Amino acid sequence: MEERDAQLTFQRGDLTAQRGLGHIGVSHHDPAYFPLLAGWVERGDPDFVQVHYSIHTRAAEDTVLRAAADRGVAVLVNMPLEKARLHKVVEGLRLPAFAADFGIETWSAFFLKWVISHPAVSVALPATSRPEHVLENVAAMRGPLPDPDTRERMVRHMETVPAFHRIGSMPWYPGKSYPGVVSTAQEALRKRSPWWP
Ligand SMILES: NC(=O)c1ccc[n+]([C@@H]2O[C@H](COP(=O)([O-])OP(=O)(O)OC[C@H]3O[C@@H](n4cnc5c(N)ncnc54)[C@H](OP(=O)(O)O)[C@@H]3O)[C@@H](O)[C@H]2O)c1
Repeated sequence: MEERDAQLTFQRGDLTAQRGLGHIGVSHHDPAYFPLLAGWVERGDPDFVQVHYSIHTRAAEDTVLRAAADRGVAVLVNMPLEKARLHKVVEGLRLPAFAADFGIETWSAFFLKWVISHPAVSVALPATSRPEHVLENVAAMRGPLPDPDTRERMVRHMETVPAFHRIGSMPWYPGKSYPGVVSTAQEALRKRSPWWP
């Protein structure tokens, strides 16, 4: 977002009536913009908001998710798996025993059930290039969802995983290679953002 976007008034009427759009939403993945995003949710009357939310990056709870719950705005969650970094930090680790009580058999279900069990969240958007991962991820919709106490317990469990605290400085998609659109876009990002991990 550029500075002028921060000054933009979100005008739902113009977008729906003049441009014929059915549903209007706002989105960002960077927590630095969540207060701005929450303001749009509170004052702009969007149908949905898409935001970065995961068991590692929980900043949206006090900003975007709260605003969306207050306004009845649907929430789509991006980066629920932290761009493969969550799986990376639990590589070779077993799930905690209590996960079985919630039908959690894989780390994907652990991370995705945590996201979709927040009452304000409508849907999680995990991306994958592999059909077997689609099946694994969809399985997170089956069985009971963790209650608030269990969600806390899941966070506390992840906090015992040493590399969990380093996710923010890990490069995106560790160990993955996506030749084509994704790698081209990431290369462009790195060029204009030297601080990018
Ligand atoms: N609006 C915004 O600002 C914004 C920003 C970022 C992302 N997004 C959107 O958010 C969605 C999420 O995409 P994302 O790539 O950013 O984040 P993500 O879903 O958190 O991470 C995707 C990564 O997780 C891996 N993965 C997925 N399922 C897995 C499984 N079952 N086991 C192991 N690894 C698994 C994938 O690898 P494999 O390919 O090997 O499965 C891929 O590398 C996309 O629709 C994207 O367009 C929006």
